[in-house]
Amino acid sequence: MPNGYHQHNGKNLLQQAELAVESAIDINDLDQIRVKYLGKKGALTLELKNLSKLPIEERPIVGEQINKCKKKLLDIISSKKIILEKVEIENKIKGSEVDVTLPGRSWGLGTIHPITRTLRRISSIFEQAGYKIETGPEIETEYYNFTALNIGDDHPARNMHDTFYIDAKALLRTHTSPVQIRSLENHGAPIKIVAPGRVYRCDSDLTHTPMFNQIEVLKIDKNINFSNLKSFIFQFLSSFFEREVELRFRPSYFPFTEPSAEVDVLSESGKWLEILGCGMVHPNVLKNVNIDPENYTGFALGLGVERLAMLRYGISDLRLFFENNIDFLKQF
Ligand code: PHE
Repeated sequence: MPNGYHQHNGKNLLQQAELAVESAIDINDLDQIRVKYLGKKGALTLELKNLSKLPIEERPIVGEQINKCKKKLLDIISSKKIILEKVEIENKIKGSEVDVTLPGRSWGLGTIHPITRTLRRISSIFEQAGYKIETGPEIETEYYNFTALNIGDDHPARNMHDTFYIDAKALLRTHTSPVQIRSLENHGAPIKIVAPGRVYRCDSDLTHTPMFNQIEVLKIDKNINFSNLKSFIFQFLSSFFEREVELRFRPSYFPFTEPSAEVDVLSESGKWLEILGCGMVHPNVLKNVNIDPENYTGFALGLGVERLAMLRYGISDLRLFFENNIDFLKQF
């Protein structure tokens, strides 16, 4: 070799650097070594710069040797870097209180509340039968909740309803029947509506909660009779329960229907459960919204949504629907 000194120094530097890289304890350390040898003012870089001081014919040879050293050094630095990075991650895992190797915490998808599901299911069955969805306010007046429904001021049915009064005139509606009046006032006859919503009564036990959901159905047209109502209820309930239901029509009394009935369904555990009240719309109700009862007749019914949900899902305590226990709700 023409110039022993330079050749020797490049290799020397490489050997030094190799030792340093080997004993580097972390990435930072390693980077300092890189700068020391390969940085702008690094030892190997300076060697290259000093080439100009060499006789011209030696430059390419020595230059090539130094470049080889540089490349070799870069190679060992990058493989050391991979090792050090691994060590660093392992140390982090060991030292931290959070074990990042544990599987992630899943968030679990939310589900639709069983009452909402039941409401939607019922509404969609009626919608398919051509019934329009109507709604009304939960804070009602005495007129819509009682008077217009043929429940006069002194009518004993007012007490039977366990009403939550807000003041002398305003109250929390005790049923969805006021929507019958509002819809008839707005649209007149003939009419086919279904009105789902919350209702309130001062009552609480296994099968009663102070707030619950009802669905009101009203159909007014020419020549509607009680057997239309019966077959309508049978068809609806069979479609809801997806089986031929066994029903019991019990004669009953509501001031706004005549005749009136209450309907019980036989549950799969063999118990009768009351689920709706119904009847032919009372002539006085039609008169209150300026419809001639000689011209039009109709039927109305009010369904207890929670009762239907209890039957469909086999639940024995109504209050479970309102406790929002996640383990309970997750089952739906
Ligand atoms: N509104 C009645 C109740 O809440 C149910 C009902 C509705 C009865 C329509 C007859 C007709 O008990």
